[in-house]
Amino acid sequence: MLIDKNVLPLVDVDFMNNTHFEDIDLINEIYLNIENFEQNQNIENFDKLKSIYNQWVDHTIQHFATEEEEMQKKGFFAYPFHKGEHDKNLSDIKALWQEFESNKDIKALKNYIEYDLINWLINHIKSMDTVTARFFKTGMSPCGML
Ligand SMILES: [Fe+2]
Ligand SMILES: [Fe+2]
Repeated sequence: MLIDKNVLPLVDVDFMNNTHFEDIDLINEIYLNIENFEQNQNIENFDKLKSIYNQWVDHTIQHFATEEEEMQKKGFFAYPFHKGEHDKNLSDIKALWQEFESNKDIKALKNYIEYDLINWLINHIKSMDTVTARFFKTGMSPCGML
């Protein structure tokens, strides 16, 4: 397991926390499949990794779209900024897979998931998602956060 759900920061809105927990399950499964591919670089392990990675990309598209729809519905003031972070992350994780397909550099993929992605996710939840969830719940943002 790469990351324990219990270390994930919680926000004020349950539908967002639930999506983040599902995200962690998928990331842990990707990590397990990365380790399997590292040990045995056969086509079967590659296909399994590709399938779970695609599921995760689809889940991420849904994760971001649901937050964005709610932000638009509620007229969240920092919508363009929050959406900008989502768009950048989504294009990064799609590009990462394209790169892996062409060079099969499993260490680079592992390194990204292990460090860059986890850091991005935790920071995003602690900042943008926290402020946004507070706004969804109360119509206000936490003092001094934005
Ligand atoms: Fe989120
Ligand atoms: Fe978000």
